[in-house]
Amino acid sequence: MASGSPETSEEINIKKKTKSKEPRSPIIEDLRKSISSIYHPTLIFYDYETKYMFAITAECSKCGRTFPYDEVLTVCTECSGALLFRYDLPQVAKKVSKSVLEKRKDAFWKFIELLPLSSSKSIVSLGEPYTPTFRLPKALGATFRNVYIKDDGRLPTGTFKARGMAVAVSKLAELGIKSVAIPSAGNAAAALAAYGATAGIEVYAFMPKDVPESVLMECVFLGAKVYLVDGLINDAAGISRKLERTHGWFDVSTSRQPYRFEGYKAVAFEIADQSNWDLPDSIFIPTGGGEGIIGLWKGFKELTELGWTHKIPRLVAVQSSGCAPLVEAYNRGEPEVKKAWRDAETIAAGLRVPRPYASYLILRAIRETGGMAVAVDDEEIVSSMRSFFKIGVYACPEAAATLAALNKLENEQELDPDEKTLLYLTGNAMKYIDLLEIRRDEIPVLPRDANSLVSEE
Ligand SMILES: Cc1ncc(COP(=O)(O)O)c(C=O)c1O
Ligand SMILES: [Zn+2]
Repeated sequence: MASGSPETSEEINIKKKTKSKEPRSPIIEDLRKSISSIYHPTLIFYDYETKYMFAITAECSKCGRTFPYDEVLTVCTECSGALLFRYDLPQVAKKVSKSVLEKRKDAFWKFIELLPLSSSKSIVSLGEPYTPTFRLPKALGATFRNVYIKDDGRLPTGTFKARGMAVAVSKLAELGIKSVAIPSAGNAAAALAAYGATAGIEVYAFMPKDVPESVLMECVFLGAKVYLVDGLINDAAGISRKLERTHGWFDVSTSRQPYRFEGYKAVAFEIADQSNWDLPDSIFIPTGGGEGIIGLWKGFKELTELGWTHKIPRLVAVQSSGCAPLVEAYNRGEPEVKKAWRDAETIAAGLRVPRPYASYLILRAIRETGGMAVAVDDEEIVSSMRSFFKIGVYACPEAAATLAALNKLENEQELDPDEKTLLYLTGNAMKYIDLLEIRRDEIPVLPRDANSLVSEE
């Protein structure tokens, strides 16, 4: 891997500091007001057979205690474990078959019977598509022959966070929740801001003060009440939790509610459907707070229990070496992350989670599927972003980390080069546009008059 080569740093410079630009001008204020009318509360109804819904309970992933699935849920009241919805899968298998699914439009809500909604009328949608899955061109250099990418940069707000928030906001709106709060590295807040706006739910977002500027602006424009915190996501979580208690906001924090996992399950369903139920051998997924990987694992398990698929791909969690608590715990054989990672620092903002709340579940997902946890350096991430740009794929740092990890494991001969591998690209590079620098003064500016470019003989 050409990590940190002069060539790399010449083409993509990582800015040391984000500019502090306060979006306060009257024009921006006007725009901000008009944005909320663009995202008016429109519900897209999907024409799926939803006479039957199958959620039966929410179960604590630590102590097994169960809770009514249709109440407002946070974490287990006994042991604070993360709650997971359970479904009557034998009944699902009876009422919904692959041939029923085949007749439905390919879209995020296709597997609606495996969501905790009471009815399809609860869907709050920004038009989530099936995201493309395609083979990685050989030109990228990897000797792996069978590598695919799934590009979730095409979802509303440009990251896979839209999946979790689409389901969470749909269910919370159904339950009558009017205001929510979220501590976030950035992309989750942006997705919540968008879905909250469309559902008419007020969103309070707490983010590290060096959150990428583009994401910050997105949250502001989408109408969230934004607060920057002089610290990391765990500090933001402490503050938002304190304020939530006094203001009565519902806490949509990572893994502290059961709703967002359900949205990430759709990735597993989509991958299965798109690969004609012949699943990849392994999936590389950038992992910070871990809802993504937990959701994916839960989705694959449900598909197996339904008898629709017969294996679960190995889940490879990818972190940045500047904040790799899961990799450390995995390598030490520990069941959870005991201590928060100190001085977390990485350009992959979504991976800067010093101590994920449900680390025990993430590690369980990795171990149960026979996967692993891998850390890559920021230089390797930047180099992989550049490789993706060269083939027209606009991957954000977290997404690019998956290719860096594949290259690393390939070099260390940890994987079989023939196996079917999927790199899960969780977001679009546009979200981090302020991290990328070009030398504008070196780009030629041409005169308006085309004739003046040609010397008349
Ligand atoms: C683009 C992107 N990829 C991956 C992640 C990590 O996701 P998770 O917290 O579900 O592990 C994040 C989190 O913010 C993200 O924004
Ligand atoms: Zn419990």
